[in-house]
Amino acid sequence: MAVEALKVSGVEKRFGALVAVNGINLSVLQGERRALIGPNGAGKTTFFNLISGTLPLSAGTIQLWGRDVTRLPDWRRVRLGLARTFQRNNLFMSLTTFENVQLAVQRQQQVSYNLLRSARSFQAINEQAQQVLEQVGLTGRGELKVASLSYGEQRQLEIALALATKPSILLLDEPTAGMSLAETGQMVELVKSLPAALTLLIVEHDMDVVFALSDRITVLHYGQVLAEGTPEEVQHNPRVREVYLGEGE
Ligand SMILES: Nc1ncnc2c1ncn2[C@@H]1O[C@H](COP(=O)(O)OP(=O)(O)OP(=O)(O)O)[C@@H](O)[C@H]1O
Ligand SMILES: [Mg+2]
Repeated sequence: MAVEALKVSGVEKRFGALVAVNGINLSVLQGERRALIGPNGAGKTTFFNLISGTLPLSAGTIQLWGRDVTRLPDWRRVRLGLARTFQRNNLFMSLTTFENVQLAVQRQQQVSYNLLRSARSFQAINEQAQQVLEQVGLTGRGELKVASLSYGEQRQLEIALALATKPSILLLDEPTAGMSLAETGQMVELVKSLPAALTLLIVEHDMDVVFALSDRITVLHYGQVLAEGTPEEVQHNPRVREVYLGEGE
């Protein structure tokens, strides 16, 4: 039987009078590729912030691998296998590509790192950093300063930083935003090449990318789930066509 990676029940987030996330229920199975779509301001990034623990919830519960994490800080959720990327770049621009990944690996291994400050632990960090760079197609770019990478490469590096924590659940917030067609194609291939056991939740506006990557789609509208289903089902859902795909405009 499929294992539930993420379970969200009755989750709400209020900013003063604004209800940005308004009672969302969501269940994502291990290895699933789930897209989260919806108009600007629908609450997608806020929802990611609640799942990752960047923001506290106003109501509801969140479970990772059957464990209630609603009140756990973000770093404890990372330990349980959760990683995310941000809608905007979150990189150290003046460091090299390799150094950025090194830092992310080091942060994840903090405990053992402090206990065992040996040459072996440094070597392990470097090997893992190298492996993660390979995974996102940035081998050979390691010695370059991040500022001199192309925009597309910087976004690939963001994925590398998330992978450096060895996640079992990965949240990607608009991985192709601002990319050229070629860069978007490369990003789609990168995401497709990630291990099948990795559970993915992807916020994305580009519907070609959504259809290329997702098994199931959840549509958010004003902080609520408007529809959910296979790409085919969602594409033909009249309510979705009305509010999101702009039918009848
Ligand atoms: N920290 C905050 N304080 C107050 N309001 C906020 C905050 N963060 C988000 N909001 C509001 O919550 C609503 C949802 O915003 P959110 O960024 O989650 O939308 P989104 O679906 O990610 O949109 P986009 O597609 O443009 O990225 C918006 O009305 C936004 O202005
Ligand atoms: Mg957003």
